[in-house]
Amino acid sequence: MAADKLPLISVRNLQKSFGVTKVLRGVNFTVSAGQIHALLGGNGAGKSTMIRIITGGIRKDDGEISLSSQRDTEPKIAVVHQELALLADLSVAENIAIVHAASARSFVHARKQAEIGYKALSLIDPHLANTALHRRAADLSMHEGQIVEIARALSTGADVIMLDEPTANLTAGETERLFAVLRRLVTETNIGIVFVSHRMKEIRQLCDVCTIIRDGMTVIDAAPLESLTDVEIVHHMGQPDARNEIPARRKIDHADVGLVLKGPECAVPVLKGQILGLAGAPAGPSQVIALLNGTARSSTWVLEAEGWPERPMSPRQAVELGIGYVSGDRRSKGVLAQLPIIDNVLASRRVREGRVFVRRSERAECLDLVQALKLKAGSILDLPSTLSGGNQQKLLIARWLGMSLRLVVFEEPTRGVDIGTKRDIYELIRRMADAGTIVIWWSTENVELLELCDEILAFDTDGQAKGLLQSSQFNEDALADLTGMAA
Ligand SMILES: Nc1ncnc2c1ncn2[C@@H]1O[C@H](COP(=O)(O)OP(=O)(O)OP(=O)(O)O)[C@@H](O)[C@H]1O
Ligand SMILES: [Mg+2]
Repeated sequence: MAADKLPLISVRNLQKSFGVTKVLRGVNFTVSAGQIHALLGGNGAGKSTMIRIITGGIRKDDGEISLSSQRDTEPKIAVVHQELALLADLSVAENIAIVHAASARSFVHARKQAEIGYKALSLIDPHLANTALHRRAADLSMHEGQIVEIARALSTGADVIMLDEPTANLTAGETERLFAVLRRLVTETNIGIVFVSHRMKEIRQLCDVCTIIRDGMTVIDAAPLESLTDVEIVHHMGQPDARNEIPARRKIDHADVGLVLKGPECAVPVLKGQILGLAGAPAGPSQVIALLNGTARSSTWVLEAEGWPERPMSPRQAVELGIGYVSGDRRSKGVLAQLPIIDNVLASRRVREGRVFVRRSERAECLDLVQALKLKAGSILDLPSTLSGGNQQKLLIARWLGMSLRLVVFEEPTRGVDIGTKRDIYELIRRMADAGTIVIWWSTENVELLELCDEILAFDTDGQAKGLLQSSQFNEDALADLTGMAA
């Protein structure tokens, strides 16, 4: 169908430098009507930069961009950026309606705002539509915020919707619902959708064609996804083969209990050197995590461990007890935005060791960590804001790597990290466990838990612990059943 293939966005030979770093060196990108287009590439390849140029956030140095609409109006593009962008002091309804107002060049009345907001949110989350319209954006959890942003983008009636890693903050169930809505939008309204993700399974599930960018250049231009295998895609991205097995597990001593997690329904003993996965929607796992990182003011969960209190009273006490914590919210809780990369990487080492002065050997120490994680940075003296999303995530992990900890808590540590580097992070986590550290790891990506954990504690969507799976019982469907979410 010729009409289906109308190009809505056409980018030719796009170029962009930041200072001396050439980030885009010749990107071609064509988005057609009626297609879901996967935009792929490793961390730092230039995906978000291109999206920001197309949507007018930053200026290009060179190249052509043309936009067209299937209607007799100005072409309109809606975007969900990689880092959340809601106005903190406005309500959810206001945040959604503001986009509509800008397009109509008119003030939107409060009642109308609520109507627009309700309609938009109902598309993907009827519960949120009924409960969240009048809440302040600042009070939303990260994943609620993500849903609001997506709903906003979907409801603007744009010709193209660009979603830069929209599923990174969503649970499997929410992702599935989002995909159903995107599919329906494309079929019913023939718009174009651009989807950025590092999760191969999702990409295959949702997308029709893909463009692969590598080091700022297009290496695959709108090829049908069926024409490429996973191995070929990873190869085009310039990443090591993702099929490499994670090295076998060191044997765990079953008498060596490191701590016991006591919840309302159960007590879970965790062995030294064990990797315990937390699966399911945020409600349950976030309570356990808050207990361990010292942010729970009161909690239904307590811990029992030699020399430790029932509950660390503050994040500082948690660090002093030897508990490491990688926050899933890198922007507001993790990255120290005003400090250079080196200070971000070495932060917890300095706190643990009470270092005040910068040691000369720190530079080498930081460079080793940067290399181990393939953290792509211009210089370790640059600010974190110069890093791509996935590389900012690596900053948080680097902070705890190789430290001797009794316990480390990971909250979605591979969020936004590219396929090749995910394998590296899995190996590094495994190595920490092999050295005797207890690892507690929450992920909404069930497959990665199944691959790496020794045991998985599954929570349902109401936050109730539903079962503890041993590795011999690991199975995608069983975990999906227990968590009430898609596998
Ligand atoms: N303001 C800036 N100053 C300097 N360098 C920048 C700036 N913004 C981006 N970069 C660099 O541009 C490159 C591309 O970044 P971009 O965010 O487009 O990557 P990406 O493909 O979206 O990666 P990810 O998958 O990690 O999100 C990165 O190496 C990044 O460090
Ligand atoms: Mg990006």
